[in-house]
Amino acid sequence: MDNAASAQKPLAVTNALAHYYATNHANVHRGVHALSDRATEAFENAREYSRQFVNARHTREIIFVRGTTEGLNLVASSYGRHRLKPGDEILVSEMEHHSNIVPWQLMAEQTGSAVRMIPMDDRGEIILDEYQNLLNEKTAVVAITYVANSLGTVNPIRLMTAQAHDVGAAVVVDAAQAAPHLKLDVQELDCDFLTLSGHKMYGPTGIGILYGRERLLDAIPPYQGGGEMIRKVTFQGTEYAEIPHKFEAGTPNIADSVGFGAAVQFMQDLGLDTIAAHENRLLEYAHQQAAEMEDLRIFGQAENKSGVFAFALGDIHPHDIGTIVDRDGIAIRVGHHCAMPVMRHFDVAATARASFAVYNTTDEIDRLFESLQGVRRIFGKWWMI
Ligand SMILES: Cc1ncc(COP(=O)(O)O)c(C=O)c1O
Repeated sequence: MDNAASAQKPLAVTNALAHYYATNHANVHRGVHALSDRATEAFENAREYSRQFVNARHTREIIFVRGTTEGLNLVASSYGRHRLKPGDEILVSEMEHHSNIVPWQLMAEQTGSAVRMIPMDDRGEIILDEYQNLLNEKTAVVAITYVANSLGTVNPIRLMTAQAHDVGAAVVVDAAQAAPHLKLDVQELDCDFLTLSGHKMYGPTGIGILYGRERLLDAIPPYQGGGEMIRKVTFQGTEYAEIPHKFEAGTPNIADSVGFGAAVQFMQDLGLDTIAAHENRLLEYAHQQAAEMEDLRIFGQAENKSGVFAFALGDIHPHDIGTIVDRDGIAIRVGHHCAMPVMRHFDVAATARASFAVYNTTDEIDRLFESLQGVRRIFGKWWMI
């Protein structure tokens, strides 16, 4: 139940990786031989599956990156250098993962712009009135998570995007926690950039995608320089390759891109609606069980929630909870979840978090709650049992 950190891999993915290495591996886009053609085809097919997954208009808008962290750093760096000037404002919500805060702070320092926080309420929902008040003609970027990893909140991206566009700001969506659970549609969301990590959606580690609106990707400078991303190099200057290659310097992570394509197909074969329905049932079940434990506090009570059940049990330290349930074979995450501002909001140092994937069951949730009774017993909370 630590799937928000990383999901387990189905055979469809590990077989695709093994098959690729056994039969199709070569470097891409540069060989004249058949093997390189096959590798290039497998790699570019994965890009097409990714395009379908987020419903981008064109594969030119899909860049392979290491994961969400790299996707966000790429946008902050390339779009930031292109667009941000002194006095500009970058709006980032209070519930962001550090990877959607720190790259913007770095870019703000370099450009003389400022990061402003969009606050949330005690249920873990963005305060939309405050968001609207923060938007103004200085707002250049709104960087927002679709689903909060520490709370499970699903944010109203479509609405927030429309309001950001009204003041001319670009919208960057962190879809790391949305991609495993929700159907993504960049055209419907109308966002300018969206990024996700393969390893959280049953794919390999070290691979993810960044979607960018074609017009913007064309306009902004490359992130890194090297092979693959150029059209012509002389000592007088360099012409860059077309997108998406302009943003893919060096030999890409070919095998894991192929594995990622297999993960996307795995999810589509299961059906995104089926996955969401199953996980929502699990979340609801966990909330029902929790209602019977009066010393259990849930963090994240948003109306629209996905995948994450974060909690505290009385005054027991989350690390003790995590260690004890682990002895019963249950993996949960404890800590600040790379979301220290969220911990600060709730005035805690850490929380315990169970996060669900398609292979979890209600029986497993029963076992988690039995194990939590064991935690109470160890800490002498007999009156609660
Ligand atoms: C909401 C959110 N954003 C970004 C990240 C960073 O993802 P990665 O470590 O795969 O780059 C995570 C990972 O936990 C996350 O949950």
